[in-house]
Amino acid sequence: MQEEQRIAELRRSLHEHNHRYYVLAEPVISDREFDALLAELTLLESSRPDLFDANSPTQRVGGGFTEQFEKVAHSRPMLSLANSYSSEEVQEWADRIHRESAGHARFTCELKYDGVAIALQYEGRRLVRALTRGDGTVGEDITTNVRTIRAVPLQLSEAAPERLEIRGEIVLPFAAFEALNAQRKEKGEKLFANPRNTAAGTLKLQDSAEVARRGLDCYLYGIWLDEGAPKVVTAHSQGVDLAAEWGFKTPLVLERAFEVAHDVEGVMAFLAHWDVARHQLPFAIDGVVIKVDDHAQRRTLGSTAKAPRWALAFKFETEQGLTRLRRIAYQVGRTGAITPVAHLDPVPIAGTTVQKASLHNADQIALLDIREGDMVRVEKGGEIIPKVVGVVLGERSEGSQPHEYASACPDCGAELVRAEDEARHYCPNAEGCPEQIKGRIEHFASRRAMNIDGLGSEGVEQLFAAGLIRDVADLYALDMPPLLTLDRMGEKRAGNLLNGIADSKAVPFERVLFGLGIRHVGETVAKRLARHFGSMAALRDASTEALLELDVVGPVIADAVVQWCAVEANMERVRILEEHGVSFEVEEDATAAGSDVLAGQSFVVSGVFSIPRDELKHLVELHGGRLAGSVSGKTNFLLAGDKMGPSKLEKAERLGVVILSEADFMAMIGG
Ligand code: IVH
Repeated sequence: MQEEQRIAELRRSLHEHNHRYYVLAEPVISDREFDALLAELTLLESSRPDLFDANSPTQRVGGGFTEQFEKVAHSRPMLSLANSYSSEEVQEWADRIHRESAGHARFTCELKYDGVAIALQYEGRRLVRALTRGDGTVGEDITTNVRTIRAVPLQLSEAAPERLEIRGEIVLPFAAFEALNAQRKEKGEKLFANPRNTAAGTLKLQDSAEVARRGLDCYLYGIWLDEGAPKVVTAHSQGVDLAAEWGFKTPLVLERAFEVAHDVEGVMAFLAHWDVARHQLPFAIDGVVIKVDDHAQRRTLGSTAKAPRWALAFKFETEQGLTRLRRIAYQVGRTGAITPVAHLDPVPIAGTTVQKASLHNADQIALLDIREGDMVRVEKGGEIIPKVVGVVLGERSEGSQPHEYASACPDCGAELVRAEDEARHYCPNAEGCPEQIKGRIEHFASRRAMNIDGLGSEGVEQLFAAGLIRDVADLYALDMPPLLTLDRMGEKRAGNLLNGIADSKAVPFERVLFGLGIRHVGETVAKRLARHFGSMAALRDASTEALLELDVVGPVIADAVVQWCAVEANMERVRILEEHGVSFEVEEDATAAGSDVLAGQSFVVSGVFSIPRDELKHLVELHGGRLAGSVSGKTNFLLAGDKMGPSKLEKAERLGVVILSEADFMAMIGG
């Protein structure tokens, strides 16, 4: 049948173009042509659901949803690597290999990718399973997410064996990492610390469409064939060559990233090369891996419980850069906290150019005797913000003077204060310091607080500069005419902003409380305070003892809340906001008042709902029900949302568990 043939043809062709683009970086058609073929296939597939294939190129965009990642035993353990930190250690290791293996050993050298280990299983040349390392013996099945990674072939070339397992590393390239963080910053979301953690977190997302958008990449470094497979691989270097032929992205696509060394000198040359060249790579590596090439020799050498004796990781030192400290500046946060920031001559460290670094606080500056004009050592560890870790005293100029820590706020000039038990200085001028005011408004408007669409940091800056806002409460008094006098502010943008502000009045009290920016009151604490006290009025009257009754509240938080409530300006702000219709009470509907209508009943909550799943779970407990993690004979109800795994539903049906929709459940609790 023609349609069926065309679908097969398009899938084959798109797999090939995908390989050329994402593995070889040598596309032969334009992005447009690729998109046109993909659109044609998508259309055809939609008319032929009977031909659905999870490995079709159309599935790269994701869409599959994993409720819980299944635990699966590895075909063979995923071991770690022994580490070394100096060329002497590498030499000793190589000497031992030569002593213990019969004859001369040949080594392979490759990069130690700083990502997440993955095991890919292929059957009939098709990807059937992708497992995380887990504890090395049992991993988690993340196939749905891994299918979206373009560098992972879903279909291998004809030359590949029927069944094989390949292992490698999933990495998030710097460019993708930075783009992602830029987007998050824009939306007021928390920034990710480094590409490795982000890659790990991304692979555990439930929504594979989001995984697809993140831009993960994958390099493969070890193949295992089933017994009796036609091609017998006798050396690692041969395995890597074959893997590349079969469609995998191997280090062979990078310059000098895979080498066979016939002696230790060859290994040392590779280490020396990458110690410098790593800074030009588009992704992070944390060392080099040296392996015995010959598989027979590997077998003789064997493994310890943790790591093979035939491989060694050489770890690079933490990335440092040396540069000149031009100036020490100070930033004021929305809570008034002062952060000293080093302005540096630009220096490349770990794949990015660093121009600013953290100096922590006054004590740290004094301890290291950091001065303007010094040559300083800057380190980029796991954190996003690099830090100054030391001074090259030998290069200090003669007239240099110890740094005098700021005594006044860089923004408003108020005299800084420092509590005895705190490392930081604060600007006490909460109501008059522009940076603090703008910071507070920005926080208030952010997504996780009032979620005011169209009001980011630039917007706040603009409204503040024009004198239209001096406080979060002023937002609710804004109207069209003055907005229209602003730059780049047409009726559409102004209208969006006013709508966003009006919509924010519907935001529940717990997020309003978070948005007010009380020191130490983050999202979780705000939520608990709101639910416990029920209203701003009750919270204001709460004693320290009453606050301490909550398990998430310690003396520091309790103090911060009591102090905040004692400030007249804060209470005035609350009063005005309340007048404008902002919510300062937990909604008194069925969702807040508890009952025991569900007493003695056991619930499993699964899938996606119109409100966060945690809220639903909270409601179950609020009305006396019990929560269970998985469906069993003891379960009474399965509260089933969208995108729920079919196996759970089947099991519930088999066991006679009553399946409820969100609406059924709400009706049950009288909502
Ligand atoms: S070989 C049995 N080669 O490093 C040896 N591992 O500490 C298996 N890694 O979790 C590992 N790059 O995911 C090997 N070129 C490379 C590697 C590499 C990164 C990771 C690996 C493992 C960890 C071992």
